[in-house]
Amino acid sequence: SAQLHELAVKAGLEYFGAATDTPGYRERAPYPQSYSQYDEILANPKEFGQTTPTNGQKWLFAEPEPRLFNFTEGDYVADLAERTGKKLRCHALVWHSQLAPWVETTEWTKETLTAAITRHIRGVAGYYKGKCLHWDVVNEALDEDGTYRKSVFYNVLGEDYIKLAFKVAAEVDPNAKLYYNDYGIERPASVKTAGALRLAKMIKDAGLRIDGVGMQAHLHADNHPSEADLIETTNKYAELVKEVAYTELDVRIKTPVDAAKLELQSQCYKKVVGACVKAKACVGITIWDFYDPFSWVPHVFPGNEASLLWFENFEKHPAYQGMVDYF
Ligand code: XIL
Repeated sequence: SAQLHELAVKAGLEYFGAATDTPGYRERAPYPQSYSQYDEILANPKEFGQTTPTNGQKWLFAEPEPRLFNFTEGDYVADLAERTGKKLRCHALVWHSQLAPWVETTEWTKETLTAAITRHIRGVAGYYKGKCLHWDVVNEALDEDGTYRKSVFYNVLGEDYIKLAFKVAAEVDPNAKLYYNDYGIERPASVKTAGALRLAKMIKDAGLRIDGVGMQAHLHADNHPSEADLIETTNKYAELVKEVAYTELDVRIKTPVDAAKLELQSQCYKKVVGACVKAKACVGITIWDFYDPFSWVPHVFPGNEASLLWFENFEKHPAYQGMVDYF
């Protein structure tokens, strides 16, 4: 039967994709089998037409020491994308988390931090120039209440760090679509969505280019947004930016997993598919890996699991067929 990327393209999207990582980083749970089944699903161009490195391009990996750039981790996924004919979403240039320790321990002035951010973006986006369909230029700059998160970047530079990042990224890679990416910005009425709208407008008002808003969409099976809400949110972003994408979709289930919860999960995945197909500005959907043992969810949200589409034994979740039928 038809597979996800193939169906997404037929439905008018640019892609359906899955993030992945280098073998050393994605093995987050005891994993007794060989990788071959995983690799085969990942490589299938009809299943996934796009990928994102879950970790490798982050500051911690890409510039672990000042001026010392390392693209080993990021290249693993970039090369895989090239080899298997997938579009590459690049992630993430400026983010408060998974920062190289030196960024947080240096005593910055406005001038020195501006220089460091500029150098970092030139180094990383410059290296990947021409390969990235999108860049998540700034990731998670907002707190839960929609105000700016008090990161090292914000504490020294205020909102200017966001403008700086978009300005430098636009200079370095004129062809990559530049995204602001965050979680909890999927519902139209949330204060954080309002924050993301303000942030996108702030960038535009500064005369800078922002092409898209990425909704990470780390969702909960038992309390997820309606399709109408998702569509409304996308349409709000579309008043400011050309496109939106679901960039890190997963739908966590509270342990223990049972059929009723898997059905709720399927409903949620289907709503994202429906919303992306129906809202004109939505270009694609990326799930945050596809194989449960490689999900970040159980590690970061204990008591939650099974957020992706393939169980440990490589059987598919009901949500897989749910989406296939819904596309
Ligand atoms: C996660 C990765 O999946 C984990 O392997 C890592 O330990 C922590 O980061 N928002 C983001 C992603 O933008 O980069 C995060 O990825 C998940 C939340």
